Amino acid sequence: PTALAGRHFLKELDFTASEFLGLVELAAELKAAKKAGTETPRLRGRAIALIFEKTSTRTRCAFEVAAADQGAATTYLDPAGSQIGHKESVKDTARVLGRMYDAIEYRGDSQAKVEELAAHAGVPVYNGLTDDWHPTQMLADVLTMTEHGTGPLAGTAYAYLGDARFNMGNSYLVTGALLGMDVRIVAPRAYWPAQEVVDRARALAGTSGARITLTEDVAEGVRGAGFVATDVWVSMGEPKEVWDERIAALAPYAVTMDVLRATGNPDVRFLHCLPAFHDLGTEVGRDIHARHGLDCLEVTDEVFESPHSVVFDQAENRLHTIKAVLVATLA
Ligand code: CP
Ligand code: NVA
Repeated sequence: PTALAGRHFLKELDFTASEFLGLVELAAELKAAKKAGTETPRLRGRAIALIFEKTSTRTRCAFEVAAADQGAATTYLDPAGSQIGHKESVKDTARVLGRMYDAIEYRGDSQAKVEELAAHAGVPVYNGLTDDWHPTQMLADVLTMTEHGTGPLAGTAYAYLGDARFNMGNSYLVTGALLGMDVRIVAPRAYWPAQEVVDRARALAGTSGARITLTEDVAEGVRGAGFVATDVWVSMGEPKEVWDERIAALAPYAVTMDVLRATGNPDVRFLHCLPAFHDLGTEVGRDIHARHGLDCLEVTDEVFESPHSVVFDQAENRLHTIKAVLVATLA
């Protein structure tokens, strides 16, 4: 068994920097093995429950394909398809699924729920996104930064622009702090992570050597960055009425070619966990386009489709990194 056997993954800070980087390294090995056709299934006979109280494309598919590649079975419980929270408590659900499955993935709004599942399941529980954290996404982002970065990961600078009070902003802040990176949160002050998250990041930086910057100034925030990242301005579970205030507040923080140029780094890479509003041709986007006359939101199509953009490597890396979590905790 590996050092992480039997462990939960509820948030980035469940792991030390070396455990976190060990998972990224394992993901790189699993990626290479899959591409070479030499992957060894190490999870035969295992079963993993996938609870999604919010929708997903990447996270769900990554868990399903990762499990299949490793010989494990999965059951997908869709946002309406289980009793959890409606007819049955989280605690009872945990005890039932824990008798049938070797691990449980949970995506939903509340971090307290995934922690309660973990407290009662008796098997590893993985956070597939809550309002507070998106830890499996961070593994993929760090793998992507190791693949596309120019220097060592420690000290690598990345800037996150946009709504930083939610899962992605929080996760970027603490992950960079954990790994000794140069993290910049670039947003209006009202959209910065909660003080408690900032305090934790600063405390971590004290030991990891990370640099933590929170700024409202785009030019200052992105200067010298190797990576510029953003996320949707309205997250799953938020009412659609907040779009107007978000657009007003965050429009100056959209990732444009000018923002990439302001890094001063011709090799700067663009990251986005996806889905992205780089065009407004989707259902939600068409309504925004009609009301605001905009063609894009958090990132321009020009940036998204440019050679700077590594978003599909990042999306693919969800598979390899989630597989690493499964193998490390279950094999
Ligand atoms: N990035 C991400 O978590 O995508 P999904 O919502 O499609 O899973
Ligand atoms: N902040 C986004 C991330 C989606 C992967 C959300 O929670 O909807």
